[in-house]
Amino acid sequence: MSEGSTVVVRGNATKRGWAIVTGASSGMGVEFSKQLARRGYDLVLVARRLDRLDALATELKETMRVEAVAISCDLGVPGAAAKLVAELDARKIAPSALVNNAGFGAQGVAIDLPVERMTEMIQLNVASLTELSLIVGKGMASRGGGSIVNVASTAAFQPSPYFAVYAATKAYVLSFSLALNHDLAPRGVHVMALCPGATRTEFFDNGGVKIEMGNFFFMTPEETVRIGMAALQAERPLVVAGWLNKIMSFLSRISPLWIATRTAAFVMKPKARPMLPR
Ligand SMILES: NC(=O)c1ccc[n+]([C@@H]2O[C@H](COP(=O)([O-])OP(=O)(O)OC[C@H]3O[C@@H](n4cnc5c(N)ncnc54)[C@H](OP(=O)(O)O)[C@@H]3O)[C@@H](O)[C@H]2O)c1
Repeated sequence: MSEGSTVVVRGNATKRGWAIVTGASSGMGVEFSKQLARRGYDLVLVARRLDRLDALATELKETMRVEAVAISCDLGVPGAAAKLVAELDARKIAPSALVNNAGFGAQGVAIDLPVERMTEMIQLNVASLTELSLIVGKGMASRGGGSIVNVASTAAFQPSPYFAVYAATKAYVLSFSLALNHDLAPRGVHVMALCPGATRTEFFDNGGVKIEMGNFFFMTPEETVRIGMAALQAERPLVVAGWLNKIMSFLSRISPLWIATRTAAFVMKPKARPMLPR
């Protein structure tokens, strides 16, 4: 947990349909929170920046008339997910939806990046996501149902040089989510992997990520999350956001791995050349 593993809780919880959104302080997490609130969910907003979560909680309560609780939690350290669940239990919050959205990337040759940062990424993108899916999923199954969205990436579909650890974490998220959906479907729990492509959020600044792609490749968080919410409603196990991303992921999946890897290297190489010859 952040600041010596403490959990800071604000807000007044009531018993209705609760949705937990991790990474709710920016980007797609903010959008998930708003779109879930619009559908009548009460929200548990989780991230490290409590000021932003508090502001969003206030906005949701005032504009959408839902309950919203802000919890400051660093999911990049071991044990954080269990502490978060304990905090929810203490507040008698039994979630019917979970969006494992918190995550970050880092671009560069893997051995040149700080190894502690890579460990933190694996803890956040993989370990905490897994723990939350399992603990919260078990609770949902015992209550007869629920929904889990795990935010993966189009990076999940091929090895990505210069993005090696991040792409591997997202490949895990995709594989885990599809298998877990199969396991939990008979118990009424739907698990979906959302694979966004390039989406305009703080992700690029936070991870020092620069990719040479035309503007038309980028989606807004509103668009990406709207696609995710529609797929969730339709109980799909997997959705790739946007037709361009769908085509690119499809091509990755049918290409020999060496071609997919080299293509990813071309896109992800820091200060990459322009995509087209001048
Ligand atoms: N943007 C893209 O192009 C793109 C593409 C594919 C997939 N994705 C995935 O989409 C998800 C959302 O990312 P985004 O694009 O919305 O990026 P973002 O704007 O940077 O948001 C990331 C969120 O994760 C939270 N977070 C980061 N580290 C955390 C930690 N240790 N503990 C708890 N929360 C933490 C951040 O909150 P705090 O800093 O306040 O903790 C923030 O709310 C991520 O899983 C990302 O990998 C993004």
